Amino acid sequence: MAHRLLEPPRTRTARVEPVAGRIGAAVTDFRPGDGCDEETARMLRRALLRHKVLFFRGQDDLGPAGQTALAAVFGEPSPPVVRSGCAAPRRAGGWHTDGSDTMRPPGVSVLQALSVPAYGGDTVWANTAAAYDGLPPELREVADRLWIEHAGPDGVLEHPLATVHPETGERVLLLGAHARRVAGLSAEADAEALVRLFQGHVTALENTVRWRWRPGDVVVWDNRATQHRDVRDVAERSAGERRLRLVACAGGVPLPLRPRS
Ligand SMILES: [Fe+2]
Repeated sequence: MAHRLLEPPRTRTARVEPVAGRIGAAVTDFRPGDGCDEETARMLRRALLRHKVLFFRGQDDLGPAGQTALAAVFGEPSPPVVRSGCAAPRRAGGWHTDGSDTMRPPGVSVLQALSVPAYGGDTVWANTAAAYDGLPPELREVADRLWIEHAGPDGVLEHPLATVHPETGERVLLLGAHARRVAGLSAEADAEALVRLFQGHVTALENTVRWRWRPGDVVVWDNRATQHRDVRDVAERSAGERRLRLVACAGGVPLPLRPRS
């Protein structure tokens, strides 16, 4: 028994280290495939709210069940889906918040790389809370009042441009490839130009982190405070196939700052 007492608790070994100034942190000395006790789960949830994206380098294949178990740390998981990348529209350069064309976009997403190309095909995430914070006060006032039309295969719906994160209370900008125009603004060119203007603040390089995939990498992101996009810089056949398994957790209706007038 004595040797077991000498083993440090697993929860004390996990370390969280930022990999960029405003978004993204690597979790080391912790392997999600080994399971996760409640103390570690709390630490991971706190880390995700703070850093928006967590990277777990070079893990063994979690399998659908293991990945679902990791996702359950952060929310209510949906069934796993295996795919070659994000099927985002080309608008906004491919930048998007998953499911912004639905009433309840996913809250948290968990992705594992099953196979990756030898080079290229990185993914970039942007911090939409930092984007809001960085707006000049005059633009923040405008953002607080606008609603945006998001279009998808099932039609068009509207979300507030500035929303309140349900857990942190931070204000975030909700835009991305599904965002078409400012709702209720009859001047079409202006309605679209305003979307581009605010989207430009989201994707400023200072608000982003870029991840070069290696096989087995697991990434968890807070879909309520981020956008992401794939970097389509290689013909995937020449560099090797990219296959990813995604488990998304249920999210709520994006909250407006105030009732719509
Ligand atoms: Fe996506």
